Amino acid sequence: MGRFGDGATPRRPRKFARIAFVGFGLLFVLAGGACAKQDSPERGEPAVGGPYRSVPPSPDGIGKLYMGREISHVMGHRGAAWLERPDREQEERTDLLIQSLPLEPDDVVADIGAGTGYFSFPIAARVPDGEVLAVDIQPEMRALIEQRRIKLGVANVRSVLGNETDPGLAPASVDVILIVDAYHEFSHPREMGEAMVRALKPGGRLVLVEYRGEDPSVMIKPLHKMTEAQARKEMEALGLGWEETIGVLPVQHILVFRKP
Ligand SMILES: C[S@@+](CC[C@H](N)C(=O)[O-])C[C@H]1O[C@@H](n2cnc3c(N)ncnc32)[C@H](O)[C@@H]1O
Repeated sequence: MGRFGDGATPRRPRKFARIAFVGFGLLFVLAGGACAKQDSPERGEPAVGGPYRSVPPSPDGIGKLYMGREISHVMGHRGAAWLERPDREQEERTDLLIQSLPLEPDDVVADIGAGTGYFSFPIAARVPDGEVLAVDIQPEMRALIEQRRIKLGVANVRSVLGNETDPGLAPASVDVILIVDAYHEFSHPREMGEAMVRALKPGGRLVLVEYRGEDPSVMIKPLHKMTEAQARKEMEALGLGWEETIGVLPVQHILVFRKP
């Protein structure tokens, strides 16, 4: 007799839980992660001024337009389990993403909008003589990164609590900035962009990974996707030069930009 007895009854809850998990995951993807999105502090505030314009908020958006794109809500820390879902590697080929990054062993990498640190830790293994700065604005996400860092005993990941306008990185200190599935929810993309450019060393790269906005087969809500043209427009406005688009992933672009 096994731990759960010998009949079918005790197995049902596990089977049900598996089906429920897969069903929930599917729903989440179809809904563009909307169920884990939380209201931004910006919601409802007039978002006019500077490079921003106020618009009636769409269900996933904060009612703030930047270069023709409405900014989406921030994904709350309660969505952390979704970032760590077991099928993610296969669905998004996150292994290929990590392999594709233009990294040297001694690079300092800033993973901005790091969430749970899903990418920060495997990237740390690619920069054994460098460091990964895992930046997020949610203290709960930072706490998850810290727990993981201690559990894994990784010496070259440092968690950084940024704010909505500034990732808190020293000027000219970073070789590569990585932003995966986070830029579209930056509430102040212009200020964040300028601060990120300042933090890059001359010749440093910014790697932007977003769901492909021009691809209708990518079942993610529009505000959680970006077209290559929009991403290039926004990065070029910061003075970054487009270097290449790496097209190896099933649902996302990998866009590489360089600071002159
Ligand atoms: C959808 S999650 C993606 C997490 C991680 N990059 C991944 O792919 O697993 C987006 C993260 O970006 C963070 N974020 C949103 N705005 C930010 C900002 N201005 N600076 C840093 N992090 C931000 C959110 O708190 C959230 O943890």
